[in-house]
Amino acid sequence: MCGIVGYIGKQKNIKIGLDALKRLEYRGYDSAGMAVYNQEKKRVDLVRSVGRVANLEAKLEGMGLEGSPFLFYTRWATHGAATEENCHPHRDCKDSMFVVHNGIIENYLELKERLVANGHEFRSETDTEVIPHLLEEFFTGNLEEAVRKVVPLLRGAFALAVISRDDPQKLVAVRFSAPLLIGVAEGEYLVASDPSAVVTHTDKVIYLEDREIAVLTPLGFAIEDFSRRAIEKAMSTIDWNVQDAQKGGYEHFMLKEIMEHPESITNALRGRLNTEEGLALLGGLDAHKETMRGMERVQVLACGSAYLVGRAGEYMLEECAGMPVEVDTASEFRYRKQAFDSKTLSVFISQSGETADTIAALKEVKEKGGFALGVVNVVGSTVARGVDAGVYAHSGPEIAVAATKSITGQLAVMALLSLFLGRQRQMSLDAGKQIARELASLPDLAKKILETGEHIRGIAEKYKTCRNFFVIGRKYSLPVAFEGALKLKEVAYVHAEAFGGGELKHGSLALIDEGFPTIAVVPSDSVYEKMISNIQEIRARKGPVIAIATEGNDAIGQFADDVMYIPKTLEMLSPVLSVIPLQLFAYYAGVLRGCDVDKPKNIAKSVTVE
Ligand code: AGP
Ligand code: GLU
Repeated sequence: MCGIVGYIGKQKNIKIGLDALKRLEYRGYDSAGMAVYNQEKKRVDLVRSVGRVANLEAKLEGMGLEGSPFLFYTRWATHGAATEENCHPHRDCKDSMFVVHNGIIENYLELKERLVANGHEFRSETDTEVIPHLLEEFFTGNLEEAVRKVVPLLRGAFALAVISRDDPQKLVAVRFSAPLLIGVAEGEYLVASDPSAVVTHTDKVIYLEDREIAVLTPLGFAIEDFSRRAIEKAMSTIDWNVQDAQKGGYEHFMLKEIMEHPESITNALRGRLNTEEGLALLGGLDAHKETMRGMERVQVLACGSAYLVGRAGEYMLEECAGMPVEVDTASEFRYRKQAFDSKTLSVFISQSGETADTIAALKEVKEKGGFALGVVNVVGSTVARGVDAGVYAHSGPEIAVAATKSITGQLAVMALLSLFLGRQRQMSLDAGKQIARELASLPDLAKKILETGEHIRGIAEKYKTCRNFFVIGRKYSLPVAFEGALKLKEVAYVHAEAFGGGELKHGSLALIDEGFPTIAVVPSDSVYEKMISNIQEIRARKGPVIAIATEGNDAIGQFADDVMYIPKTLEMLSPVLSVIPLQLFAYYAGVLRGCDVDKPKNIAKSVTVE
């Protein structure tokens, strides 16, 4: 996620901003920029660079820039690749308004069209750039007045910080669903995305809430809500050190990112659901609707957890669109005799967009004239740039090596794609509306699971000495079982093997005894009774069973030693929920076993080698 730093006060030393920005680097970004009001020249100087903050620092070296207020920013691209021109701060036609933005402006295209028709010239591909041009239109000498008029026009998620050459002794900050705080020091005020940016300057902070606007001057600040009502806010004291602050107070990035599942699912769905018509609105496919309509089969190519997302998507696509689907690991696909044609939709799933095997498989498909669709998290990544069309997951940067929040984001996108293709084919309006409604409810359902973290930790404690696990599931829960096994291996260094519940009796049952637990992913779905039979086969041989079951299913207690519950949802959406307790179980198992859960041994976040 991007990093925002703003400053207004008695000092003119921009190093304050640069140092603060460096403490936000952990948030993940692809470019960095700054803008500072130059009192003598009565202008705002703008400097931006692609890549590390160090590149921005090198550019600033020797420029002698100083002044107040200033803005510093790290961008994690969502709209427009990671280029200098796309990096914030963004400005208006008159170089008066300078804006940094965290989030997504959903309705930016319609706003941009109107602004261009009014003669505004845009210099970037971003959604953000509509904001300074709107401010330009509404500005009549008072910066906060212009902000008050622009904010109601914006739809989506945002935190903003704004300075202006023409109302220079102000810094206006707005929070609307993306984090933003004010750091309060003696005669100095800062704005930042999180406490780690300000903690070396002050430990006094005020956390803005959604729909609040702060106007900061060198003499003080005022906070109001979107109805212009003044708000008195409590001052908080940061009692974290910088490292803790970067993890948002969580012990590990992995836990922080697991806790971000609701936000990840929300971001994947944002602006993409029409619940009235039961449709998925995928902007990246607008230009390819007829191509997608003509597709007769699907192949999904990915690696690791992304491959397992593809396996869950296989069931979704078959059920919703009635299309034959083949899922293959990219590393295998590359060396097979490939049998696909122009009616085959090739879907590439990748969090990083830089996985060598996935890139190579993409090249194979393009070489043979195949149509490639990307489900990618990192904007402007190699896979994202190589496909014919794509749907970004918008999960935000994932720092821990183990994929967690990106998985639910990708699963949500696969459900959207299934809905999109299904409604182009035989899926009825009612079925589409039901799926769209259920998708919209997932973030709140995910939150309910996260509230059971302590219960899950207790189960991990109970089994922390076990060296081997089976993980079983059927249909939609089988890919989830594979993902649960992968997580146990990669963060708890426990040998875990996943397979279909129906396969247990064909050999693996021989290993079951009281020291060999099985995790059974057994939501109340169309294969529940079959899974109960498999669980009883295990219990008959004294094997411990940990069940992931649907809330309200009290009967499961007679079949399982321990139960982790998930809320009820559609069978096809259950993977989005059932994957969460498995990730928490693996996380706590890893911590209890003293593993480095953020950076497990031997593996990397992005496997850029074959
Ligand atoms: C999953 O926890 C691992 N980090 C790994 O399996 C990962 O999913 C795989 O390397 C694919 O990465 P990608 O999604 O960035 O392509
Ligand atoms: N949507 C904006 C962009 O793509 C902001 C992204 C962010 O939050 O880093 O530039």
